[in-house]
Amino acid sequence: MKHDLISIRDLARGEITEFFALAADLKQRLKQKKAHPLLPGKTLALIFEKPSLRTRVTFEVAMTHLGGHATYLAPQDIRLGERETVEDGARNLSRWVDGIVARTFDHAQVERLAQYASVPVINGLSGLLHPCQVLGDLYTLQEKRGRLDGLRVGFIGDGNNVCNSWLYGAAKMGIHLVVACPKGYEPHRDVFTKARAEAEATQARIEIIHDPIRAAKGADVLYTDVWTSMGLEEHRAKRMRDFQGFQVSQALVEVAQRDVMVMHCLPAHRGEEITDEVMDGPHSIILDQAENRLHVQKAILVTYLGTERSEQPARHRWFFPKISLGRWVLPRP
Ligand code: CP
Ligand code: NVA
Repeated sequence: MKHDLISIRDLARGEITEFFALAADLKQRLKQKKAHPLLPGKTLALIFEKPSLRTRVTFEVAMTHLGGHATYLAPQDIRLGERETVEDGARNLSRWVDGIVARTFDHAQVERLAQYASVPVINGLSGLLHPCQVLGDLYTLQEKRGRLDGLRVGFIGDGNNVCNSWLYGAAKMGIHLVVACPKGYEPHRDVFTKARAEAEATQARIEIIHDPIRAAKGADVLYTDVWTSMGLEEHRAKRMRDFQGFQVSQALVEVAQRDVMVMHCLPAHRGEEITDEVMDGPHSIILDQAENRLHVQKAILVTYLGTERSEQPARHRWFFPKISLGRWVLPRP
């Protein structure tokens, strides 16, 4: 496993299923009100250049449940690359904290942080990717359906950061992903090429089309996200025009499988990319999806921060099964 979590592409399929197994254990423990302080005294810095509800709160709550502490750094606080270089910021933070979650405009910024920080860096959304979101999404589908292989997912809307991570996630996990977007709003070309190459080995299928009805037809999952992502607000008026016809509405639900699950990473712009009727309707699993960010990110934190991985990689393997068995084992100091 790599030192940092920047992209789902960097994970092996088995590593993703390990996250899911641990997330399921941790979720059960929380529901049973059993303590699970697997990261006692560990600290996490959250460097956010953009706003957040879910990612910030779930990482902060996760660290509290795990017996550690998170420090939130708002956009105006450190301004990496402006107030001081990314390199200096990364090296300073590495002296104080055990891990960093970063949300950046430019994807290269999160990569630079990972390059210079000696502690693990987790991508909490960049302009290109949103791996923690899609890991949470995949876990939610695995939980609901017991499998991911062969599921058909229709992603309707913008080929944005969430969509790009979905391409990698689908390729890894053998999913048939059909992205329907307006012309000119396709997922990133390089991501598509890499995901398609990986899909050949996993029996996944990845298609990009421009017809939302075709993408929705027979889908097990309908997924959408905002038409104007953070940082693109100046293009909102044009995007509102260009995305007409790409709303997830009852009409799309009706051509999908009868038990279709509707997903949205949130925040939603109700009445734009999704109707109230669908968002609050019987097919929506959107709140379960949001909840699971907490459990999956806990698994990510325990995996990346929980052990001196480079020195003793065997140790984290050693304590996983103990958690599964419901026995409480603190990592050794
Ligand atoms: N889905 C998601 O990452 O939400 P936030 O932007 O609120 O963190
Ligand atoms: N694509 C959206 C996702 C928000 C979680 C954005 O980048 O604003």
